Amino acid sequence: MNGQIVAGVLAPHPPHLVYAENPPQNEPRSEGGWEGLRWGYERLRKKLAETDYEVLVVHSPHWKTRTGTHVLAVPELSGLSVDPIFPNLFRYKFDLKVDVELARAIVAEGRASGLEMVPMENPAFRVDYGTIISCHLANPAWDKPIVAISSSSAHFDYSNEVGEEEMAKLGAATAKAIAKSGKKAVLLASNSLSHRHFTTEPELPEDMSKEHIYHHGQYLWDMKVIQLMKEGRTRELADLMPDFIDQALSECRDGCLSWMLAALGYPTFPAEVYAYGTVIGTGNAVVGWHPEDAMV
Ligand SMILES: [Fe+2]
Repeated sequence: MNGQIVAGVLAPHPPHLVYAENPPQNEPRSEGGWEGLRWGYERLRKKLAETDYEVLVVHSPHWKTRTGTHVLAVPELSGLSVDPIFPNLFRYKFDLKVDVELARAIVAEGRASGLEMVPMENPAFRVDYGTIISCHLANPAWDKPIVAISSSSAHFDYSNEVGEEEMAKLGAATAKAIAKSGKKAVLLASNSLSHRHFTTEPELPEDMSKEHIYHHGQYLWDMKVIQLMKEGRTRELADLMPDFIDQALSECRDGCLSWMLAALGYPTFPAEVYAYGTVIGTGNAVVGWHPEDAMV
């Protein structure tokens, strides 16, 4: 029972950030762009390099499952992942390993708490770009196995409140499974914050003279939730979540951040904000919770 969550990271997945870095796995080439966010991810990677962990557990908005929550449970997966909205920016050859033992333990704990949970066992499964991008930006070496968790449709089918309740249970089940596994895990919540976005793309996607927040109200919401993170007021953030989702069209609606805050036990210590920036007008923050730092 001495496994633990050694970090939780809000790790948003705009494909633009991978495109801008020109890694060998991604086919399109760029001239850069979105440096504020990318430098934030660089600082995060430095922090994770000093953190002792064995597995990344990621919850992604772009693996949407129709019924219940699914968890990748195939030891190795590879293929080509193409962003359906931005195929011009993201055509990425992925090749990853999954911690199937931990994946199955999360499924078992989720079921024990009353959630509909399924291990995903299709060896030809194409991993979604939300999972791949968050994992790539946190650990581009891909030298650690991952566990990937789908986004159930509870917020969409029922209400934000029902979805939030489900994410609280899923987070608690994830924490329990990690504790029992004896492993040290880093959690990644793959969503953006405010999510109003432009509907036309500039001719050059990385033309930063075109990049800005979509609307001031969206910016104010983002600053409000980031302030709560910085002050360790994550219970309050959880209470505000249904309103934030509605008013900022937030990608938090897919449950990633709520799952992670629940798994971390709603931390009261300040989060480390590595970066905030917009991508096609959406608000994105790279934010870390590092429990070990909070203890010193
Ligand atoms: Fe997204």
